[in-house]
Amino acid sequence: MDSAWYSAVLVVYAVVGAATLLATSRMPAPYGRHLPDPGAFGPTLPARIGWILMELPAPLCFSLSFLLGDHAGEATPRLLLALWLVHYLPRTLVYPLLLRYPKAPMPLVIVALGAAFNLFNGGLNGWSVAHVLDYPPAALFAVPLHAGVALFLVGFGINQHADAVLRALRKPGETGYKIPYGGLYAWVSCPNYLGELLTWLGFALAAWSPAGLLFALYTFANLGPRALSHHRWYQQRFPDYPPERRALIPGLW
Ligand SMILES: NC(=O)c1ccc[n+]([C@@H]2O[C@H](COP(=O)([O-])OP(=O)(O)OC[C@H]3O[C@@H](n4cnc5c(N)ncnc54)[C@H](OP(=O)(O)O)[C@@H]3O)[C@@H](O)[C@H]2O)c1
Repeated sequence: MDSAWYSAVLVVYAVVGAATLLATSRMPAPYGRHLPDPGAFGPTLPARIGWILMELPAPLCFSLSFLLGDHAGEATPRLLLALWLVHYLPRTLVYPLLLRYPKAPMPLVIVALGAAFNLFNGGLNGWSVAHVLDYPPAALFAVPLHAGVALFLVGFGINQHADAVLRALRKPGETGYKIPYGGLYAWVSCPNYLGELLTWLGFALAAWSPAGLLFALYTFANLGPRALSHHRWYQQRFPDYPPERRALIPGLW
C-alpha cells in the first residue's frame, strides 16, 4: 500500500469512527443488557460462538499482514505484535470460554459488524507497524515506547480484573445482574471499558502510529457512549447504586 493509499484508508477510518460515535450515542449496540428482545435484530448466535467469530479476525489479520511486511523481522515491530497478541489471544480464545451465560443470544449483525471491523483494524495496524512505519534500532529505547508499553499493561490489568469481577457476580447458569464492587468499580461503572481504552492508548503511544491512534479513538467512540448507557441502566435498576460512581472516567464522567 503506497502512502497515498495509506492516507486514504486513515481518512476512511476517521469517518467510520465519527459515524460509530454518532450511532452509539443514539443507541447502544444491541447485545447483553441492551438486547431486551432477542428477536428484534434478526437471527442470533450463542454469545460464546459469537465472541470467538467476532474477535478471531483481529489476531489473524494483524499477524498475517505483519508477516507480509518488510520490517517483520525487526525488534520494535515484533514487540508491538507481542502486545497485540497479549490482548487478543485471551479475548478470542479464553474470554468466550469463561462466559457465565454462554448461550446468551447475540445478533448475527453485531457479530458480522464486529468481525468486519476487526478484520480491517487488525490488517491495517499489522501493516502499519511492519511495513508503513520504519522504526530505527534506537526506537526500542525511546520514552514513548516504554511509556506506551507501561500504559498498555496497566490497561490490560484493569480490563482483565474488571471482567473477572463481573464474571464472579454470576454462578454458572445465572443470567441476572448485580451491582459490582471492588477495584475501580469504587469509582466507575465500567472499568473494563476504561482498561480497554488505556490499553489502546498505550499501544498507540508505543507504536507511535496514526492507525494505532485511530484505533484508540475508535475504542472511545464505541465504548464511551456504551459506558454511559450501562451507568444509567444501573442507576435506574438499582435504587441503592453508589451515587459517587461515574460512568467511565473516575471523578469526571
Ligand atoms: N475494543 C472495543 O471496541 C470493544 C468493544 C466491545 C467490547 N470490548 C471488550 O470486551 C469485553 C466484554 O464487553 P461487553 O460489552 O460484553 O462488557 P459488559 O457489558 O461489561 O459485559 C461483560 C460480561 O459481564 C456480564 N455482566 C456485565 N455486568 C454484569 C452485572 N452487573 N452482573 C452480572 N453480570 C454482568 C455480561 O453479561 P451479559 O452479556 O448477559 O450482559 C457479560 O458476560 C470487555 O472487556 C470490553 O472492554 C471491547
